[in-house]
Amino acid sequence: MQQYQRYLSFTRLLLIWLFVVILAGSIVRTTHSGMGCPDWPTCFGNAIPPTQEYQVRFQADHEYRKGQFIIYNDSLKYANKTFKSGAAYNPADWQQYEKNNYAKFNVYQTWIEYINRLTTGVLGFIIIAHIIWSWRLFGKTRRSILYWSLSLSLLTAFEAWLGKIVVDTNLEVVKITLHMLFALLIAAVAVIIIHKVKAAPKVVGKQLKWLSTITLLVVLVQIVLGTEVREQIDEISLALSYTSRELWISRLNGWFEVHRDVAWAAAILCVYLFWQSLPHKVLQRTAFIILACVAGTVLLGLILMYANIPAAVQPLHLLLSSILIIALFAYRLKVK
Ligand code: HEM
Repeated sequence: MQQYQRYLSFTRLLLIWLFVVILAGSIVRTTHSGMGCPDWPTCFGNAIPPTQEYQVRFQADHEYRKGQFIIYNDSLKYANKTFKSGAAYNPADWQQYEKNNYAKFNVYQTWIEYINRLTTGVLGFIIIAHIIWSWRLFGKTRRSILYWSLSLSLLTAFEAWLGKIVVDTNLEVVKITLHMLFALLIAAVAVIIIHKVKAAPKVVGKQLKWLSTITLLVVLVQIVLGTEVREQIDEISLALSYTSRELWISRLNGWFEVHRDVAWAAAILCVYLFWQSLPHKVLQRTAFIILACVAGTVLLGLILMYANIPAAVQPLHLLLSSILIIALFAYRLKVK
């Protein structure tokens, strides 16, 4: 029995780590660090990125490894062989990097992006360990759990590939949204595994079933609307060189008003769902998480709107809305 408990705790850890990855990704975005590493999976051609500007500038009499990057004449170059440089830059030793030409170095952006990649890497290890554990515990008895665990790795591999595309195409916004929706899908799979292993009896209630399904769908729509608003913010902020934050909200189009209005519908549904869940002990905890998350998300949304989109609030708004939808999904699995 204890081994199941430990497996459950590990799956919960996986779920929590996914939220850490979502948060890290959002911090990358709000600090504009996505291109902090112009290449992938290395960063400026290194396993550990540079910490000083001079490391990415041409250095005379320096040993360069094949694939190492420098910024030269506002352009990204990489060493086409391992060599020792002479007194002056020799074009024959270097190749122009073609995938993008983000020829800037900002140590904070580079390290934020790098830490983001590390959190994703740790997630990869957690998922591999999860598959091995699932195979040992359920390989012969409940294969479906093993398959769900395997699907975590497939989805994550796709997500990593999408991450690479995002970098190679200089952060094209639609792909960023897809990237986020996939992260939510991976979290949903983790919730399914927890639900299956716990095998707790479901609450029977037609009204609760419908109410939770509708709330889940409304929040999903709200998240897609949110990513639409966020894509606009990305464009507006870029056009204003990430300054004049007081102008960002006023430049949003009608999707923002829809997002703001649907928020109230989502909030009312969540409060009603909480209220309806009170008589059911098994639902109370998840219902409380839903209530807390929706209150937090709406509050942070209002702060975004009235306080000119403070950078620190952006990742929190995303984090709470992600936890909200996953909690709603977990809730939905508990009723039939
Ligand atoms: C149930 C309630 C809500 C949910 C689930 C929700 C969800 C989201 C999501 C997922 C994003 C995209 C964030 C990102 O990709 O970084 C977003 C962005 C945004 N939301 Fe909401 N939201 C809610 C309520 C509100 C409210 C009430 C407001 C304000 C009136 C608001 C204002 C914004 C703004 C301004 C953005 C763009 C922020 C940015 O670019 O980082 N949201 N929302």
